[in-house]
Amino acid sequence: MSFRRGVVSTFGLLSCSLLLAGSLYAGTYQHSLTIDTMSLDWSVNSDTLAVKVAAPTTGWVGVGFNPSDMMKDANIIIGYVKDGKVKISDDFGTGVTSHAPDERRGGSSNVTVVGGSEVGKTTTLEFTIPLKSGDAKDGMIDPAAETKVMLAYGPDRDSMRMKHVYDKIVTINLSTGTMK
Ligand code: HEM
Repeated sequence: MSFRRGVVSTFGLLSCSLLLAGSLYAGTYQHSLTIDTMSLDWSVNSDTLAVKVAAPTTGWVGVGFNPSDMMKDANIIIGYVKDGKVKISDDFGTGVTSHAPDERRGGSSNVTVVGGSEVGKTTTLEFTIPLKSGDAKDGMIDPAAETKVMLAYGPDRDSMRMKHVYDKIVTINLSTGTMK
């Protein structure tokens, strides 16, 4: 084999593997729902919830779990993508219309960023959170029970202070993927 052919086939093999890895990865979420203009994909992996959420905004995108009343007591994950970098915060619903980072309320940050992108007008965040972090500012997620899931996104600004232009609460059994 000539050096050139060797390089070409090695490159071909490498790009095929990368493409395959990419498509396998893209298909790894166990569940998927479209809620109005937002999409929510997730997987329950033993003690972790892996989430991919997308919305038509260049500002923040948020997901929350189990509020007691509107935003109160919810475990909220909010983030945006700026200059290709993902900024995510593990927040807590401090009141019916307010939230603050867990770390500022005596809790800790329990979110792991997996990725994110801003393509055209769509922002996508991918992260994992523990189902039971042990943090009082997170609560617990029981995949087999009915989980109240909040979805929201902000206006086209990279600021977590701006109020949402869209918000919704849905009830999902995270194990089966069934939405009420
Ligand atoms: C960024 C700052 C935020 C502000 C200033 C804010 C403010 C508010 C306000 C004033 C309301 C009352 C209803 C209304 O006026 O529309 C509300 C409701 C709501 N918010 Fe937020 N919010 C913020 C972030 C978030 C985030 C990150 C989420 C979730 C991921 C969220 C989810 C909700 C939901 C689901 C409701 C409606 C609750 C219901 O219909 O019972 N909010 N918010």
